[in-house]
Amino acid sequence: MRTRTKRDRWRENQDLDRVHEPDLREIAAGTTYLRGEWGARVFPSPQPITLELGCGQGLFAVDLARRFPDRNFVGVDLKGHRFWRGARIAHDTQLTNTAFLRARIQWIDHFFGPGEVAELWLTFSDPQIGDKRGTKRLTSPYYLALYQSILPVGGVLRVKTDSPEFYERTLRDGPATGMEIVDHCDDVHGAPEGRFDVDLTASLAFRTAYEERWIREGRSIHYVCLRKAGEIGEETLETARRMLQGPLDRIQPRFPGVDGPSAV
Ligand SMILES: C[S@@+](CC[C@H](N)C(=O)[O-])C[C@H]1O[C@@H](n2cnc3c(N)ncnc32)[C@H](O)[C@@H]1O
Repeated sequence: MRTRTKRDRWRENQDLDRVHEPDLREIAAGTTYLRGEWGARVFPSPQPITLELGCGQGLFAVDLARRFPDRNFVGVDLKGHRFWRGARIAHDTQLTNTAFLRARIQWIDHFFGPGEVAELWLTFSDPQIGDKRGTKRLTSPYYLALYQSILPVGGVLRVKTDSPEFYERTLRDGPATGMEIVDHCDDVHGAPEGRFDVDLTASLAFRTAYEERWIREGRSIHYVCLRKAGEIGEETLETARRMLQGPLDRIQPRFPGVDGPSAV
């Protein structure tokens, strides 16, 4: 059988019942999508929600969903053809505590309300070392402010990266935005047995597609866990929104190449 093209995957996604692909131009115009309603309208039961931001193929989200049936999981990525793989598996195996959302992370507060998400994972995000303004690195103070707007106090952000710079900057910017460092480790796979609790050991043992690549290149894998310690100020949040949520002309059409050329 021939390999599916991007276009095949975009089309197939439209028939998968675990996939959500809202029109991002409407979101950028100020609308929300399922905000505050995931527990009631998407999942069979309103269990704690974990997001994997920049989930790529979405196989880590699927692995978590299988291991934790008492939680709900949403894989978020801008590229629907990437998470098609995880979404296909979730659909075919009726993994009802999983969903996939095509969205830009900088608009995440339009999809989830205050305290609606218990846990966030960032796996192998582009380190964006040259990002001086803080609008590209997914653990910059602006992003950390936005994440805190959807986490409850005590909610956590877990980060896995191969980049020492991304690791160090996350450790620096977490406390700078009021988050507590719960744990950090610069060599997850070289850590002694028992270093992490049983559930976290299993989660960290999963190797994403990018992780496999970095391990083959001999890189160490780093881990950081940050916890929201208190409510974030409205002014800080407004600044983060202003810096991250850009103008309409940067938004792609819903299904590029399927819905026609970019309309904006
Ligand atoms: C380096 S890949 C890592 C993929 C996966 N987590 C892994 O470890 O194999 C980064 C992923 O993040 C997605 N991504 C990057 N920036 C994003 C953004 N602002 N909003 C949504 N997805 C984004 C990309 O489309 C890509 O799939």
